[in-house]
Amino acid sequence: MEQAIQVGLGERSYPIIIGAEVMGRVGSDLRARGLAKRYGIISDDRVAGLYGDRLRQVFRQSGLACDLITFPQGEASKNLRTIAALASTLAERGFDRKDALVALGGGVTGDITGFLASVYMRGIPFVQVPTSLLAQVDSSVGGKTGVDIPQGKNLIGTFYQPRAVYIDSGVLQTLPRDEFLGGMAEVIKYGASIDADFFAWLAENRDAILALDSSCIIPMIRRCCEMKAAVVEQDEREGGLRRILNFGHTIGHAVEAASGYTLIHGFAVAIGMRAVAELAVRCGVAGPEVALAIKRLLEAYGLPTSIPDDFDRQSLRTYLQTDKKTVGGRVFFVLPEQLGRVRITDQVADVDVDAVLGNVFS
Ligand code: GLY
Repeated sequence: MEQAIQVGLGERSYPIIIGAEVMGRVGSDLRARGLAKRYGIISDDRVAGLYGDRLRQVFRQSGLACDLITFPQGEASKNLRTIAALASTLAERGFDRKDALVALGGGVTGDITGFLASVYMRGIPFVQVPTSLLAQVDSSVGGKTGVDIPQGKNLIGTFYQPRAVYIDSGVLQTLPRDEFLGGMAEVIKYGASIDADFFAWLAENRDAILALDSSCIIPMIRRCCEMKAAVVEQDEREGGLRRILNFGHTIGHAVEAASGYTLIHGFAVAIGMRAVAELAVRCGVAGPEVALAIKRLLEAYGLPTSIPDDFDRQSLRTYLQTDKKTVGGRVFFVLPEQLGRVRITDQVADVDVDAVLGNVFS
């Protein structure tokens, strides 16, 4: 039940291959494409322990040389020190411009590996083998790479497209449950902001999706990748349209930061989507039934829709103002107009934002 779609970006176009056993064909596929003579598989220590040997074996069975290079798991590794350490390891082991990198892991690994690939020896190819739902439906597609600095997340990065994305739905079996649910927030994001039919399908198929039934999981990932590809094809560098992928993220990032990054990203995005839906109602952009439907679907998937009471409300406001998507002092919001349709605007009064933030505390 393998599926393939194409991200159409001219000479930088690439395939996304989705299926239950896709990891097993990465080696033969890359060999057939002749992408590189040697591969550096970059992974964190948790995912390397689960899938590192398997992927190494897949490469070796295809006659491809590879090294597995790891870094400590977690967002705390997403910095320039890790990039320097990984680059030194590559250089010590003799990796050159004919070689390529493989990102084996979740969003942090994809961001680190993509950034490293974009700067190592002025750029070498890389492919994505995403192992978290968030990475499979969002971050592995579209070429955003980056690392954090003390002043903010993803403040250093590049747009650098992978040469292929291999999505093995089977690896979701070992994903911690909260990480899976966090990924579902990004899946719901696509339905709420781009495709109302998909939103309804997610409601109808909740039990099968939560049971990781591949007859639902694979089409679900495929539909998300199709939507992501369509947006990226039209606006690769986020000049405008790509901002719709930040639905729920403006407030979500502030909630995540105000939690001291203890709340997982997808949970903060779920709260952000509910909050921005309430904001749309308050601004007269959407009817109350839109906000209610979004809240209900998030809750059906066990996602939070309220900010925990112990949060510092003032710091939320401060984080909103410093969000990197603030342009010229304005904060951009992606407001739902209907299910599956959004409006991007910087014309939201502070008083409305404050009122909504006050209402979404539990
Ligand atoms: N995750 C949002 C984007 O790739 O633009």
